[in-house]
Amino acid sequence: MEQRYDLSGSLLHWYDYNKRILPWRENKDPYRIWISEIMLQQTRVEAVKPYFDRFMEVLPTVYDLAKVDDDRLMKLWEGLGYYNRARNLKVAAQTIVEEYGGQLPADYDKLLSLKGIGMYTAGAIGSIAFELQVPAVDGNVLRVLTRLWGDDSDILKDKTKKAMGRRVMEFMPEDRPGDFNQALIELGATVCVPNGQPLCDQCPWDTVCKAYKEDLIDQLPVKTPKKARRIEHKTVFLLECGEQIAIHKRGDKGLLAGLWEFPNEDKKMDAEDIKEWMAEHHMEDAKTKAAGKGKHIFSHVEWNMIGYKVRVDELEKKCTEQMLFVHPEEIERNYPIPAAFEAYTDHIQILLGQEKYNMMPETNDVG
Ligand code: ADE
Repeated sequence: MEQRYDLSGSLLHWYDYNKRILPWRENKDPYRIWISEIMLQQTRVEAVKPYFDRFMEVLPTVYDLAKVDDDRLMKLWEGLGYYNRARNLKVAAQTIVEEYGGQLPADYDKLLSLKGIGMYTAGAIGSIAFELQVPAVDGNVLRVLTRLWGDDSDILKDKTKKAMGRRVMEFMPEDRPGDFNQALIELGATVCVPNGQPLCDQCPWDTVCKAYKEDLIDQLPVKTPKKARRIEHKTVFLLECGEQIAIHKRGDKGLLAGLWEFPNEDKKMDAEDIKEWMAEHHMEDAKTKAAGKGKHIFSHVEWNMIGYKVRVDELEKKCTEQMLFVHPEEIERNYPIPAAFEAYTDHIQILLGQEKYNMMPETNDVG
């Protein structure tokens, strides 16, 4: 039955009538498609849109990206999370300029060899920008296909992704591989949705979907449970001197490398610890006020924070060499601060990343 059903024809017909108008679908510029695909990893379409538009305004070509200043790049990415994605983009842009004359290569293996481009992204760029016959299997596509075929393989395994990629090739149309891959992604994002009930009555495959027919929607896809996140405690200091606030640059390795933060310690400090910390930093007489709790969830770690606001005077300020004292407006303009510190930005009246676009963080971890 399924063999004879025109899977790709019905999917493309549905896509032609239902595809969303998205900024990276305006044309087939490989640079735009590449940037959008990297932004869309782990982040939902609605959250990506304003970042994408801003990125294209500031860095319209691969040459601009290849030479962008790191802080500027991080500022453009501020709030999107997974900052290595942006660092890898710059490295790959330099390779594209140096080795490929500023053009993304129209070749799957060459795309795959660029920093930050894995099988999914090489497939997406290759098919959408260059009409190459290659699969692009992301979390959306895995959900759609495991339900279509009633397949209970673990979708977090590479083996499953590769097997699904091979099966997709069996019904990929020769003339529209880019639209076909986007249609699969679109079906997963808008109909065969990740959270909540899928809209099966709007699906072009409702008559052939095994999960729908056999009532297996709730059981598929199968994902092995992830390890519990490690909890880390932090004490965050908002050191205020006149109108300026202390910030500190994180080291260039590890989580949030190279971004700016409010000074903090990796433990929950009680009143006694705070007193000691203040003395160590020559601020024993400074006034301290509680700034409340904060929490931020990364993919593998959770930060539980407690904050203190401290009024520092001119003399004490000299003793804190590792910190920069910067006006909040300048922080907002020029210093990338990760959304992890969002709980404390109200105290100094700055907006970070997604807050600037009036949105809640919307990471969509598909594993
Ligand atoms: N998610 C990943 N790639 C996408 C694309 N090209 N369009 C919409 N959503 C996507």
